[in-house]
Amino acid sequence: MIERTLSRIVVIYSLSFVMFGLSGCSVLSKKTEAETAANTAYYVCSGCHGPDNVRVNFMTPTIIGQKKGYLAATLRDYRDKKRIEPLMNGVVASLSDHEIESLAAYYANGKRGN
Ligand code: HEC
Repeated sequence: MIERTLSRIVVIYSLSFVMFGLSGCSVLSKKTEAETAANTAYYVCSGCHGPDNVRVNFMTPTIIGQKKGYLAATLRDYRDKKRIEPLMNGVVASLSDHEIESLAAYYANGKRGN
């Protein structure tokens, strides 16, 4: 009898950890969405678009401060090969719509030199 009660307590106890873990994850994933975009921008995009988000050469346009809608539509066009430019087509080839939205928001809200 006491064993059954104990095992019930263990089950409820571990379930509460699972619930807590899940809710913790959803909070975390919301936070990391913007961070992921910032990381991608820093490690991938800035290589060509410039560490200060300002154009570094005649080939790469300044994208910081552009309108979010334009950025997202342009990135989708590159990904779906509606706009052809081999460098950009390659860079965004595997991005999801969601990642594109996050990147567009990051650049639309960003400031020069951040
Ligand atoms: C290998 C170099 C390279 C990398 C890395 C790169 N870009 Fe580009 N990007 C370019 C070039 C070159 C152009 C101009 C292409 C053209 O004329 O269509 C461009 C154009 C763009 C444009 C269109 C701007 C406009 O005014 O129409 C956007 C938006 C853009 N890039 C976003 C990004 C994002 C976001 C990333 C990171 C995921 C990124 N780029 C990574 C080279 C790069």
